[in-house]
Amino acid sequence: MALTLAALRRDAWVALCGRDVLSIRDLTSDELLSLIALGADLKRDPGQCAGALSGRTIAMLFEKPSLRTRVSLDVASHQLGAHAIYLAPQDVGLGQRESIHDVARTLEHMVDAIVLRTFAHDTVEQLAAAASVPVINALSDFSHPCQALADFLTMHENRGTWRGLRLAFVGDGNNVATSLIFGAALLGVRMTIATPPGYEPRPDVLRWAHQHEVEPGIACRVTSVPEDAVEEADVIYTDTWISMGQEAEAEARRHAFAHFQVTAKLFERARPDAIFMHCLPAHRGQEVASDVIDGRRSRVFQQAANRLHTEKALLVALLGGGRWTS
Ligand code: CP
Ligand code: NVA
Repeated sequence: MALTLAALRRDAWVALCGRDVLSIRDLTSDELLSLIALGADLKRDPGQCAGALSGRTIAMLFEKPSLRTRVSLDVASHQLGAHAIYLAPQDVGLGQRESIHDVARTLEHMVDAIVLRTFAHDTVEQLAAAASVPVINALSDFSHPCQALADFLTMHENRGTWRGLRLAFVGDGNNVATSLIFGAALLGVRMTIATPPGYEPRPDVLRWAHQHEVEPGIACRVTSVPEDAVEEADVIYTDTWISMGQEAEAEARRHAFAHFQVTAKLFERARPDAIFMHCLPAHRGQEVASDVIDGRRSRVFQQAANRLHTEKALLVALLGGGRWTS
């Protein structure tokens, strides 16, 4: 079943215009669905929003390295007719050379949106509170909403639905896992996460998912046994054991996660047509075995490619550049 905008509610577009997206939990189920559907639409017909953001400018502040997020947002801006300005950590010195508040109040008079990749989620919240223009979280220690948009599109492309889909996340209860937990609850995906004790998602994340699940009982279940999580799964997902900013914990984390590698043997427990997903960058021989990530079930580059389409949808929606928001 192809995703289509025809069935979507116009109110979602009106509501999204001018908003911040710091986390998937900032969205309603309709808004999330609308964004992903527009991403699918733009993938099928990239011309329909060409120039939609002509004359607009987007500041992109990155305090951490990035390949996919930086390039996809830059290309997305270009294809929509907007100008993206990349600002490296040393260019701005957010909160050091200048307060977050003053950076926000300066940029809001010059640009139409601010994208921020940072360490503490509190930084992106402070920036969004101070800036009058939309702020997009391009990854914080708490969430990675841009990644989840592309991931749910990828799942739909491979399975034709989200309802009832079984998603097994094996690894750290980190920013990527958190965004998937929120999105899964809103889209009806039945998610299980397998983490070593002490690396589970935050209790408030799990509580939110339970409170917002669109079908009773689908919200994320937690186990410490990877074999349980992947049983009959449609999708097996993993991410690095050591996120950016956690380098000092590397040794302890490698030890804690030693039995959480996604191997071909683990994969045998999933459905015969199960797919493998990873946000990238990946570490072969750590969180995933080479034969899994490089095998025929892997969809990691489809995920990466979808970043462009779903981020175009996000920019069009927040900056009011679409015919749906007029
Ligand atoms: N998945 C992802 O966000 O990749 P980058 O860190 O390269 O942007
Ligand atoms: N959890 C990883 C995701 C990288 C895209 C990190 O934060 O480093």
